[in-house]
Amino acid sequence: METKRIDSPDEAAELIRAGGIVAFPTETVFGLGVDATNEDAVRRLFEAKGRPSDNPLIVHLSEARRWPTAAAELSPSGKLLLDAFSPGPITIVLPKQAAIGDRVSAGLSTVGIRIPDHPTAEAILRKSGVPVAAPSANRSGRPSGTTWRSVLEDLDGRIDGVFCEDSSSIGIESTVVDCTSTCPTILRLGGITLEQIRSVIPSTKALGAHTPAEAINSTRVMSPGLAHPHYQPKANAILVDSPPSHHESLNETIAYCGITKPQTLAHLDFCQTFPTVRDYATGFYEFLREADRQLIHTVFIEAAPAVGIGRALLDRQQRAAAKK
Ligand code: TXA
Ligand code: MG
Repeated sequence: METKRIDSPDEAAELIRAGGIVAFPTETVFGLGVDATNEDAVRRLFEAKGRPSDNPLIVHLSEARRWPTAAAELSPSGKLLLDAFSPGPITIVLPKQAAIGDRVSAGLSTVGIRIPDHPTAEAILRKSGVPVAAPSANRSGRPSGTTWRSVLEDLDGRIDGVFCEDSSSIGIESTVVDCTSTCPTILRLGGITLEQIRSVIPSTKALGAHTPAEAINSTRVMSPGLAHPHYQPKANAILVDSPPSHHESLNETIAYCGITKPQTLAHLDFCQTFPTVRDYATGFYEFLREADRQLIHTVFIEAAPAVGIGRALLDRQQRAAAKK
C-alpha cells in the first residue's frame, strides 16, 4: 500500500470517512485515526500497528458536546473534568455507546473519549463527521511518534495517509481518567497533571505506580493496555539519577538525555539536554528514536522529578527502561 502524504484536512477527513487509516498531529503525539464506527477499518488499524486486541482505543471528537456519539452517559465527574480540561490532553473513560464496536473498546463496556487541543486535529475530526478511534502513531511497543517522519519510520506502507505537519507541543500522551464512578481514577498519567485534576476533584485516585512491574500489575485489570511493553527503543535504556561520569564498555556507543548537563561530554556519542521538564517531555520520544537512528547501544536517561508533568514523563521513562 502507498502511504499518501497529506496536507489538507479535507483530504484526511475524506480518507477516514472512506475507511482509511490516517496519521494526524495532536498536541500530545500523532494519532492513527480511523472511523470508530467502521469495524473493518478498526480491524485493519490493529493489524497495521501490530497492537494486541485486548488494548482499547481512545475515541477522538471535535468538540466536547459531541460526547453522545461515543459515550452512553456523561457522569458528574466526567462532566467536571471535560469542562475543566477539554479540549486538551485528557481522556475521559465513560460507559460506551452501542455505535462504538467491541473491537474499539477491546470488549470493555466503557470507552475513552478525548477532544484534542490542536487546530489540524480539530479540523480533521470536524470535517470527518464521525467519532475517530486513534491510538498513538507507532508500531506497538515503540516510542510514540511526535513527528511525521517518525510516524513513517514505523508505518510507511502500512497506513493510507499521513498528515505532514509537526506540532506535538506536549510530547507525551493524554492523561486517562476513569470517570465511571463518583470518585475518578487516573489510569495513565499524561499531559494534564495529577495536581491539576485534584484541583477540580480532590478525591481523584491515582493508580500507585512506583516500579514498572508494580505499575503493570496494578493497572492490568482497569487499563489492559498498560500491561504491554511500551515506549522501548532498540538501545538498552538505563534510568539514572544523574549523568554517568564514565561507562565501562569502550566498544559500545552511548547516549544521554536529561536536564542536568554532563560534566564531560567526551565519552558520549549522542547527548541531549533540555532547559525545563516540559521541554524534556516534549523531546523525550524523539530523543529515543534519534538514538536508534544513530545505532546507539546504551542510552542513559536522567529520571524526571516526580511532580507535575515530570510524573508522567517519569512513568514513560520507567517503561522505556523496563526489561524487554
Ligand atoms: O494523547 C493520547 O492519548 C494519544 C493521542 C493520539 O490522542 N493516544 C494514545 O492512544 O495514546 P494509545 O492507544 O496509545 O493509548 C490509549 C490508552 C491505553 O493505555 C489504553 O489501555 C487506554 O488508553 N484506554 C483506552 N480506552 C480505555 C478504556 N475504555 N478503559 C480503560 N483504558 C482505556
Ligand atoms: Mg500508545
